[in-house]
Parts: sequence; structure tokens; C-alpha cells
Amino acid sequence: MNSNVFDGRDYSSQSVYIKHVAEILEGRKAQVPKACVTTYGCQQNVSDSQHIKGLLIKMGYELTDSPEGADFILFNTCAVREHAEDRVWGNVGAMKKFKEKKPSLILAVCGCMVQQKKNAERFLKSYPYVDIIFGTQVTHRLPEFIYRRLSGERRICELTLDNGDIAEGVPFYNDGGFKGFVPIMYGCDNFCSYCIVPYVRGRERSRNSAAVTEDVKKLLAEGVKEIMLLGQNVNSYGKGLSEDINFAKLLRAVNAVPGDFRIRFMTSNPKDCTEELLDSMRDCKKVERHLHLPFQSGSDAVLSRMNRKYTAASYLEIISAARERMPDITFTSDIIVGFPDESEEDFEKTLELVRTVGFSALFTFIYSKRDGTPAAAMPDGVTRQQKGVRFDRLLRTQEEMAKRVLGGMVGKNVRVLCEEYSAGFVYGKDEHALNVKFAGDESLIGCFADVTVKSAGDILTGEMIKK
Ligand code: 5AD
Ligand code: SF4
Repeated sequence: MNSNVFDGRDYSSQSVYIKHVAEILEGRKAQVPKACVTTYGCQQNVSDSQHIKGLLIKMGYELTDSPEGADFILFNTCAVREHAEDRVWGNVGAMKKFKEKKPSLILAVCGCMVQQKKNAERFLKSYPYVDIIFGTQVTHRLPEFIYRRLSGERRICELTLDNGDIAEGVPFYNDGGFKGFVPIMYGCDNFCSYCIVPYVRGRERSRNSAAVTEDVKKLLAEGVKEIMLLGQNVNSYGKGLSEDINFAKLLRAVNAVPGDFRIRFMTSNPKDCTEELLDSMRDCKKVERHLHLPFQSGSDAVLSRMNRKYTAASYLEIISAARERMPDITFTSDIIVGFPDESEEDFEKTLELVRTVGFSALFTFIYSKRDGTPAAAMPDGVTRQQKGVRFDRLLRTQEEMAKRVLGGMVGKNVRVLCEEYSAGFVYGKDEHALNVKFAGDESLIGCFADVTVKSAGDILTGEMIKK
């Protein structure tokens, strides 16, 4: 058994299918069956894929990165922008020839994209070689689906989105090395007008804090040094749980887990970012000095049409409150350019906010129309070309700002989690989520190193003080 697979407490309904599938596969093959999982989208999807991989290993599959020769191929899809979907249509289509070569191959598609009925229907109609289609809330039932397919059922399509209890105890396979993902909540109740997530991942549901800290401990015991707490909106963690908990308290609980490790979290919605959370960040020394706080647009008119429930001014108040508590904190954000009818003036306000805050990095997106969301019905007089010009201007502004933020780090001491080694240099991230490189050797990978920053270019360059 692979040591990176973590057993949960209770996935009893599936354990019988796991056993059956393992028996069928063992009886069929001289060779170990291979499974190839391809993941699109956000960290939540990467985490779901880690659970899928954990289940596959339990069933007796060996993981492979190549679809060539695989016995099970799965695409875990994303629906957040059209571009992500286009790639899936093409890549699943390319699997037809694999199926022709190997009719016993099981081809599965899951995740946010198939949770939309029109996409599931298109797979059913136009991609007859896809065997299994399943949505975001039934991932843990994969053993059952594979068992049904192996038992002769031609096609399986399961898209239940009943917002029921979270399936706890599903095994997961940590393929992130010394970085581990721990989902703390699923779904989203915010209904930002551009966003498909609430429709494809359902209502917010939080995991018990004990389940979260237990996963943290398992990962740490395997040598993980960085824990990423995951949720579509981590700031509303705890709603609906019987225990007295919220995200600020959860951070303290995770911080109290013994060990030398770093805590990160994603994603925070500014509307729920409380002073209590900022206090927790300040007090919890394992939590990085960095906040990813997507503001999407600097224009209050656009924010209102986006249904974001905060203003540029209230966003800046959070930034100030965070800086008061943690003077060295860095910020990153997501921004959407070209929301329907975004005026030149609106866009200027986005640039202004970018300049005022001084983000270390930005994740910038051109608005993508998502059928079924309120924004899809909004009139949009902005041309593609205008959107492209704005996007480039935003990138240039951010480049300038990033230079300033990185330049301000020169002379400071930072603590780097060493991630990679290449040609005499070690690369990693510091407590501000900034990329740092310094002369060192391969033995540092997976360790923390204290480094003095000597210069700043695209990334920081430093000298190691001590390991
Ligand atoms: N178009 C463009 N970007 C989007 N995002 C979410 N929905 C859309 C959309 N329809 C972006 C937001 C979000 C990030 C994960 O993806 O910026 O924060
Ligand atoms: Fe994509 Fe959103 Fe689903 Fe993540 S939750 S995979 S970003 S649609």
C-alpha cells in the first residue's frame, strides 16, 4: 500500500464496492491496472482528485500520468470560464482512439462542468465512448460507479446535488509532496452574479473541526510542511455546524497542532473578512503573512452588479486593518476585466485600487459569460477588443506594482519553504507567499531556511543564513 494514502474513519458504504472492484480487477489481469487522472480548475478540484486517487489506489489501480495504455481514464473538469471547458471537450474527444484500441478502458468525466445538465447531456449524446459521468457531490461513490460499469451497466450518469452530509473518511492520496490540501468546506452560498460555482457545487457545508485537524495531523505525520485550508469561501466556515466554531477559531485550532509547518488558506470573500480573523492571523505564527482577498473590481457600481456585497472603500478598510496588525503582510487578488457594461471609468477604479493596495501578485481574468448566471442576461456594450486593451493595461500596472512590493523586501530576513532545486539554486516561497531563490543544495528541499533578501527581480534572490 502506498504510504501517501490516508484512510478515513468511515466510508463504509463504499468499502464493499472497493473490495468487489479489487477482486474483479485481480481476476482479470496479469498486470496491475493503471489509472490516469487529469485535473482542471482550482485547488478544490485538485483536492477532489486526490480523494479520487486515494479511492483508485484502494481498488488496486496504479496511478500513471499517461493515458496511453491506461485502464481507467478520468477528467475532473472546471466550469468557471469557457476556456477551461473548451479544453475538456477537446481532450475528452481525443480519448475516442484510446477506447477503440482498448475497448475495456473505462472513461470517466466528473466535476463542475458535468454538473451542468447541458454539458452532461452533450457528453451522453455526442461522446458515446464516455462510460461514467458524475457530479461534484458524489465523488466518494466512484467505487460504486466503477463496480457497476465492470458488472455490465453500459453507462452511468450520477449528478445528485442534494447538499447532504459531507462524506467523511474518503481516503486521499497526497501527490503534493510536502504541500498538503485540506478542504474545510464545500459549496458556496454567495451567488456572485458572474459565477457558476454555487450552481455546480451546491450549498455551503462545513466539515467538523476535528475532521480538519485530523487530516492536518495525518499529512504532517507524512512529512508535509505546508497545509492549505481550502474552501470556496473559507470566511464563512462553520455555518450550520453544531460546534461553536468559525474560521478564525479553526485557524487557531490548526495552528495549535504540534509541528513546524506553515498554514495557508484559500479563498476569502472580503464581505466576510472579520477583525476576529485578522486577529487570529496575527496571533497564529504558523499562518503565513499573506492574504488572498479577491476584490474582482474597483468600481462600486460593478461590485453591486456582481452582487459582491462590499465596496472599494470597505475593501480598503480590511487591507488597513490587516496591515495594522501585520505590517509586513502581502496581498494577492483575483480581478475580472470586462464585466458586462464595465465602463472606462469603472476600469480606471480597478487600476486605482491595484495601485492603492500594492498587490504582490494578481490573478486576472477576462469576463466569461456563464449560462444560467444572472450576469449572462446583462447587456454588454463592451467589445472584445476593449476588454483586451484593458486586460493588458491591468497587467502592465500590476507589473510595476509587483516590482515595488518585491523591491521593498530587499534587506529583510524571510523564512523559505524550499520547493525545488536547479543548477545550484534552491527555489521556494517565503511567509509572504513570495518566490525566493538562493544558492543551496538539493538536501534543503522540503525544509525551511532563513534567508536574507539581497535583490529583487521577477522573484527575490537571497542568501541563506541558516537552515
Ligand atoms: N468570468 C471570468 N472570471 C471568473 N471568475 C469566476 N467566474 C468568472 C467568470 N464568469 C474568476 C473570479 C474568481 C476566480 C476563481 O475566477 O475572479 O475569483
Ligand atoms: Fe472551476 Fe470553480 Fe469548480 Fe473550482 S469550483 S473547479 S474554479 S468551477
